[in-house]
Amino acid sequence: MLIYVVNGPNLNLLGTREPEVYGKTTLKDIENELKTLAENTGHEIRFFQSNHEGAIIDTLHEAGTINKADGVILNAGAFTHYSYAIRDAISSVPNVPVIEVHLSNIYARDEFRHKSVLSEVCKGVICGFGEKGYMMAFDFLTRRIKLMRN
Ligand code: DQA
Repeated sequence: MLIYVVNGPNLNLLGTREPEVYGKTTLKDIENELKTLAENTGHEIRFFQSNHEGAIIDTLHEAGTINKADGVILNAGAFTHYSYAIRDAISSVPNVPVIEVHLSNIYARDEFRHKSVLSEVCKGVICGFGEKGYMMAFDFLTRRIKLMRN
């Protein structure tokens, strides 16, 4: 049971980037918490972060085709709002459920953040719960995997 956690542009700077919006938790902290969760529940987890659209697309392809992951937790950062290429990549791997995650409540922020071009092709969306959103997505995916295997 394999889960990918994919983070997009500027999320490598979590902890110091606009802490009033995104909090003081670093990406490493989030990954460590997810790693512990995965170890405790017997799941394999892989982490990927990139500031480049193409690299995110390659990772979604890899998750869906080569490694046949059971789920992807995706925070595409600002690409969320305009990347039709990432949207198409998600649609191209329909066998793998993708959960869209945002630390902040994108609906309570700038108008341009209210629209996600990814949500329609994702299994679900979690936003506004800070780093806990990643854990919620993990929890959903592992419960789903369990249900599907029974
Ligand atoms: C974000 C929200 C996006 O609007 C923003 O561009 C980000 C982070 C979030 O996690 O809240 O980079 O995805």
